[in-house]
Amino acid sequence: MVWSRRACSLPPVDDRVGLLVRYGGEFVDGVVGRASGSFVETVDGRRVLDFTAGQICATVGHNHPRVVAAIERACRDVLHLNSWMLSEPVLALAQRLVGTLPEPLRRVMLLSTGGEGIEAGLRMAKLSSGRFEVLSLTRSWHGVTGGASAVTYAASRHGYGPMVPGAFALPAPYAYRCPIRHCDEVCDCSCLEAGFELFDQVSAGSPAAVVAEPVLSAGGVIVPPPGYFARLAELAHERGMLVMLDECQTGLGRLGTMYGFQVYGVVPDLLVLSKTLGGGVPISALITSSAIERECFGRGFTHVTSHVSDPMPAAAALAVIDVVEEEHLADRARARGHYLLERLGDLQERHEQIGDVRGLGLLCGLELVLSRDTREPADALGLALTDECQRRGLSINLVRGGTGGQASCLRMAPPLTVSEDEIDLAATIIDEALRTVVNRTAAAAAAS
Ligand SMILES: Cc1ncc(COP(=O)(O)O)c(C=O)c1O
Repeated sequence: MVWSRRACSLPPVDDRVGLLVRYGGEFVDGVVGRASGSFVETVDGRRVLDFTAGQICATVGHNHPRVVAAIERACRDVLHLNSWMLSEPVLALAQRLVGTLPEPLRRVMLLSTGGEGIEAGLRMAKLSSGRFEVLSLTRSWHGVTGGASAVTYAASRHGYGPMVPGAFALPAPYAYRCPIRHCDEVCDCSCLEAGFELFDQVSAGSPAAVVAEPVLSAGGVIVPPPGYFARLAELAHERGMLVMLDECQTGLGRLGTMYGFQVYGVVPDLLVLSKTLGGGVPISALITSSAIERECFGRGFTHVTSHVSDPMPAAAALAVIDVVEEEHLADRARARGHYLLERLGDLQERHEQIGDVRGLGLLCGLELVLSRDTREPADALGLALTDECQRRGLSINLVRGGTGGQASCLRMAPPLTVSEDEIDLAATIIDEALRTVVNRTAAAAAAS
């Protein structure tokens, strides 16, 4: 389990919860009735500041009126079509997306989920190259479908049988806990060189693609150093591998630029967007070059899904792009991200349990440790703290940190519309919640 939400003591507990399959640990208590901007509200009137932007999708804020209006309009016009029929929102979205992207990213495929986008990209990389080996980073998260889960290392791989053959791991550039025990605090990309060297030795001679997130989010908010992706692209292209960037979380402004790859000055061969594209509606996009599209088409590329090129989600995505551009959300993410990191830095000065604070734009994390000297991960504290924050009205995710399967990093990814007052409120809640949990633990230890 990567992150698990333990039920915290919030009313009301609804008996119907027992009818649901638990797909990621326990559910958070409370039933949500409404959502707006940075807040969700339970049916009994509790407001919760949402520092996960839903599941990192509501970057324009919950229920943005422009997105709601676009969905309402699409419901009146056309919701869904046969997979080979095209509609105005789909054509307009393809044009709009391509307009935000550099050459050679000129061909767009619209699907429903991030995992589907990754699957499509992997299939295109394999079909166009005639090869099958794929490298991805340890601590990466690309989805739970077959192909995507084979290249995902942040989730437990135990218990689901064999993965798709040909998946290999590159050590993630986790400077706080260098995977090759070489760097400390600042990554010099030795892990990347060592990872490719290792791959060369284990490869069966069929290198097809490298897949990576610009910032590894579920893996513990790991920000690769400047130059990382330029070197990764060089090493991949030397071996004839395509570079696929997974910008499901980072696309459309979150890192302070429209796309994460712009931070690193590279252009991927394949780009996957989802989450942030729909503003809460399921839609993903696989974008590639005309040359790769042509090659795949010539080889009979088939990737028909029930909701490929559906008009309603495309209409929502068009509204999302309008909002991101008109409200200058990438610039706001950059400015508010600095502010959030400053506030988290203040917390680190006050609480010795905060070993590291890191992030880029409005994707930030703080890592909890038992001791700053040993850096031993404090997973139990992380669980207690996320529960206490939830109880006090702040939703944050606990994601991977540490060296094994530990979840000791609190991830914050609020809507990009978040205000400084809301960031202050979140910092105050974390401050008080951390003090409460630490005191409670100390009291329990003294009493035992
Ligand atoms: C970076 C990244 N890629 C891909 C996915 C998979 O997206 P989905 O859950 O929509 O299939 C996720 C989901 O969390 C993600 O965070």
